[in-house]
Amino acid sequence: MHTDRVKNTTEQTLDVEKIRSDFPILSREVHGKPLVYLDSAASAQKPKCVIEKIKATYEKSYANVHRGIYDLSQVATEKYENSRKKVSEFINANSEKEIVFTKGATEAINLVANTFGQKFLKEGDEIILTELEHHSNYVPWHYLRQSKGVQIKFAEINLDGEISIESIEKLISTKTKMIAITHLSNVTGAILPIKEITKLAHSKNIPILIDGCQGAPHLKLDMQDIGCDFYAISCHKMYGPTGLGILYAKKKWLEALPPYQGGGGMIKEVNKEGITFGDLPNKYEAGTMATAQVIAFGESIKFLNKIGIENIENHESELTKYGEEVLRRNNSVKLVGNPKNKGSVLSFTLDGIHPHDIATILDEDGVAIRAGHHCCQILHDKLGLPATARASLGVYNTKEDIDKLNESINKCKDIFSK
Ligand code: ALA
Repeated sequence: MHTDRVKNTTEQTLDVEKIRSDFPILSREVHGKPLVYLDSAASAQKPKCVIEKIKATYEKSYANVHRGIYDLSQVATEKYENSRKKVSEFINANSEKEIVFTKGATEAINLVANTFGQKFLKEGDEIILTELEHHSNYVPWHYLRQSKGVQIKFAEINLDGEISIESIEKLISTKTKMIAITHLSNVTGAILPIKEITKLAHSKNIPILIDGCQGAPHLKLDMQDIGCDFYAISCHKMYGPTGLGILYAKKKWLEALPPYQGGGGMIKEVNKEGITFGDLPNKYEAGTMATAQVIAFGESIKFLNKIGIENIENHESELTKYGEEVLRRNNSVKLVGNPKNKGSVLSFTLDGIHPHDIATILDEDGVAIRAGHHCCQILHDKLGLPATARASLGVYNTKEDIDKLNESINKCKDIFSK
């Protein structure tokens, strides 16, 4: 597979062939056809280094971290903390203390909504989200609407599926207590001007949370430059293990907010009268953490650093443009959203064919795409679409993958025209 392909510029720079060979799953077949994996926005595939690290951890250096004075526990703790350091450097946090491991980006956002809500919100306070948010950045805030009577306002998308600064600015009032927005839409692909929106929020003394589920795997991150208060990361979308997420939070917030969950590991002193909490970031890591996953995520960061996140960004941007061109030329394919600054997501509809049928027919050709509302029902309601089909790209995708997607879409059209 992929040997006779005409290579494009970034594929040459990146050596995509070599990158692909690092992903064992990409050499398998599905329904007798080579796998064309176009669902990285849902979850990215895993390189050998990550898979092997999980195995090596359990085989050679596994023990509960932060709890043992024996050698093995100390080795595991060192490796665990080393991953935290790598994450901190990767996103240019001020300190490792600002990196909290969670069980996913969803938990990271729940952590903020829950603790911030508990401490700072009261009835009538307002939170600004956007119509682009996936459910992970809506449902946790909805709980606060129910429990505390806070109001949620949604910044509206424009016709291209983008969010402008103005659409957020006009919603800000003296009651606004939090702005929580996506970095990159998992449906329209719009990349939000998060640095400018952060500036706007801070000029009004409002904290801002960025949902980085789709941003972190594809875009260079610099927390000092962006300046946001919170940034949520999904590790399995960054070629890392499942069951792991990261909350970046400015130290002042981690100090000010109460703990999220109680249990071992997050305490300092416990007696019958009361409890004192552990230092940062342990205060937010209750119970036995996803140890092997954290250690293996260090390999994902190494993998991304070795390729270079800017190279990944360029490669995916070139592929996305190619994908847009190819799909636009294909009669009856309608792309969803046309943002000027777009990440590697190609959502589309086909006249007269339900996205579930598209995905099923594509699957027969080994082409894996997602179909449905992509956990974005508010956005789909706004677009007047019950569902869309979505191809999303990762570092291992090629123009040939896009061509196969297109061929398979044509097959789908043929089947439905009979
Ligand atoms: N939000 C993830 C997706 O877009 C799950 O598929």
